[in-house]
Amino acid sequence: MIRVQIPATTANLGPGFDTLGMALQLYNIIEMEEIEQGLRIEVEGEGWQHIPLNASNLVVKVADLVFKRVHYRPKGLKLRLINNVPVSSGLGSSATAIVGGLVAANVLSGNKLSEKDLLVMATSLEGHPDNVAPALLGGLVIAAVVDGDVKYVKVNPPAGMRCVVATPEFPLSTKMAREVLPQQVSMSDAVFNISRTALLVSSLLQGDLNLMSAAMDDRLHQPYRCSLIPGMKKVFAAAKLAGAKGVALSGAGPTLIAFTAGNEEHIAQVMKDTFQENGIKCQVLIVDPTPEGANYIQYEQGQEAVKGIGFRG
Ligand code: HSE
Repeated sequence: MIRVQIPATTANLGPGFDTLGMALQLYNIIEMEEIEQGLRIEVEGEGWQHIPLNASNLVVKVADLVFKRVHYRPKGLKLRLINNVPVSSGLGSSATAIVGGLVAANVLSGNKLSEKDLLVMATSLEGHPDNVAPALLGGLVIAAVVDGDVKYVKVNPPAGMRCVVATPEFPLSTKMAREVLPQQVSMSDAVFNISRTALLVSSLLQGDLNLMSAAMDDRLHQPYRCSLIPGMKKVFAAAKLAGAKGVALSGAGPTLIAFTAGNEEHIAQVMKDTFQENGIKCQVLIVDPTPEGANYIQYEQGQEAVKGIGFRG
């Protein structure tokens, strides 16, 4: 049996649309075991009611891609999914399913695929690298798709930076949140985002959180998505006033994330209260970034046999 632990992620970090993402210390677990025949799936935790228990399950589909690619045919498959990441919330739950399915199937079939193989497969399945790259690799990842390959730089998040996430109690599909975006943007908006993204990455590399507030501003996606999240701008303003260093829509939302260096309890309460004033109930969580990505433990006859990161080196 293979047990994979995959971190949640926050993508975009404001201006870095489809490019920046960071792994968080909140995890989904996928257990995969070859059985004599058939497909058995158990799901517990977040979203269990909505997750299919048949071959249309996302983890099964991505595992099948690995098995086909390496010419491995499991007799049957048993899966147990233990979900702590809210579904359709902007915290990368689908990336955990994709990365976890790929890693588990790769280990089960003899670890034939490399880190890069898994990253390219995951990016092509998700459509963009900003959630799957940090889910697989951990840390803060800057990634770009170049001629079908994924080029990336992974850095450690600044020491002392924490996150407060406020997740409204309504789901928002990435598909819907991408449909509200324009097909084209102006040169001035493009320059606005390039300047902020460059400033954000450089200041984070230097461990300077004081530029975050200005550097996390965005004109490519957040202005279009705020109509889908009642109170978004007010929650941003309130979190900043309460001491957040920077604020952003997490991925495609509806989770809002504040980047902090102290006062987390207070900022969490203020975000919750401000959502509430706008008629939205939310769950708040204080969570730290993690430099570690997906990792697995392989058990044989119930004993821990092999431990590893999510790929062959
Ligand atoms: N970059 C993506 C988006 C992340 O904002 O649509 C969500 O999957």
